[in-house]
This record gives sequence, C-alpha cells and structure tokens, in this order.
Amino acid sequence: MSWSLRPIGRAQRARLEALCRATSLFRAVEVATAVELLDESLAGDPDYRFLGAYDGDELVGFACWGPTPGTEGTYDVYWLVVEPEQQGRGIGSQLLGAVEERLRAEHGRLVVVETSARPEYAGTRAFYERRGYTRAATVSGYYAPGDDLVIYRKDLSDGDLARAPS
Ligand SMILES: CC(C)(COP(=O)(O)OP(=O)(O)OC[C@H]1O[C@@H](n2cnc3c(N)ncnc32)[C@H](O)[C@@H]1OP(=O)(O)O)[C@@H](O)C(=O)NCCC(=O)NCCS
Repeated sequence: MSWSLRPIGRAQRARLEALCRATSLFRAVEVATAVELLDESLAGDPDYRFLGAYDGDELVGFACWGPTPGTEGTYDVYWLVVEPEQQGRGIGSQLLGAVEERLRAEHGRLVVVETSARPEYAGTRAFYERRGYTRAATVSGYYAPGDDLVIYRKDLSDGDLARAPS
C-alpha cells in the first residue's frame, strides 16, 4: 500500500465531501462545514489549512487545521478523516504526524482536538490517546442532548509523543 500526502485543490472538493459522508459519523451540517472550510482555504484564508492523503490520484483522507484565534501558538485540528475501507493502515497517523511536524516548524505550542463522547467515536478517542493526546475537558450536552464534547490537548514542546507506550 503506498499513498502520498499532498495539498487539496478544488478538483477534490466533491471527493472530500464524499469522504466525510462515508464515515457515517458526521451530521449533514458538519459535512457542510468541512466543505465550507475548504472553500475558504482555497480562497486564501490562512486560518484553515488542508492536507490530503492520496492513493494514486484519489483522495483517501485529509486533515484540516489552523491557528486558534486569540491564542499564542495554539492550533486546532478541525478535521481528520480517512476513508472507511482504508482505515487502520496508518494513513490517519501519517496525516496527524505531518500536521504536527508543520506546527513544530512554525513554533506551534499546543494542539487541541475536539471530538464527541458518543460510543461511535470510541475508536477516534483511542486513536488520539495513543498519539499523545490527553483528555483536557468534557462539556456535557455540547453537540446535542446526550452528546458530550471531549477536548484533547497535546503539548508539542513535550517532545515526540507521537506514539505513547503501550
Ligand atoms: C480516526 C481516523 C482519522 C484514524 O485514521 P486511520 O487511518 O484509521 O488511523 P491509523 O491507521 O493510523 O491508526 C488507527 C488505529 O486503529 C486501529 N485500527 C485497526 N483497524 C482499524 C479500522 N478498521 N479502523 C480504524 N482503526 C483501526 C489501528 O491499528 C490503529 O491502532 P493503534 O492506535 O493501536 O495504532 C479514522 O479512523 C477516521 O477517519 N475516523 C472517522 C472520522 C473521525 O472520527 N475523525 C476524527 C474526528 S474529526
């Protein structure tokens, strides 16, 4: 299996939307937001950055991140998505590692990721925890009644915790 990490262009817009839908995790409004952020990024907004993982010419995953407004060196990873059939092959780890590498290079200090406490997201939470992210806060009922927000953080100055010990 070989894939490469490259920027995302307008040509991948529909494919990015399809990837978000394919996970069956995101609400329609969330999928629309991902596409909106891509449009803003392609229009030159530096607050939203995208990186794609490609199998040949086909987009099979992507990350979206940006500086958190009003902070010093804090960045949000807004989206990290891998096509369901391609999950578990290291693409998500490679994307997240590449994002962290870019943030370190521009003196990023802290990475924050927001996700859901719903059982369907258990794999996602484990994924971040195994990559050095620690649970910083939970906000009950944030997304919807019974659907809590979980906030993860990773201090980039702690050295390479890309893989926490088993
Ligand atoms: C979270 C996500 C981005 C991880 O991407 P990925 O390419 O599957 O990640 P990797 O292959 O690098 O690692 C996945 C981990 O799960 C394990 N895994 C095995 N089979 C898997 C499968 N079918 N699906 C997911 N993970 C699997 C891997 O062994 C690995 O475990 P490890 O932590 O012990 O190394 C991906 O599962 C995804 O798109 N999920 C849905 C969207 C989502 O929740 N995004 C994050 C919030 S925006």
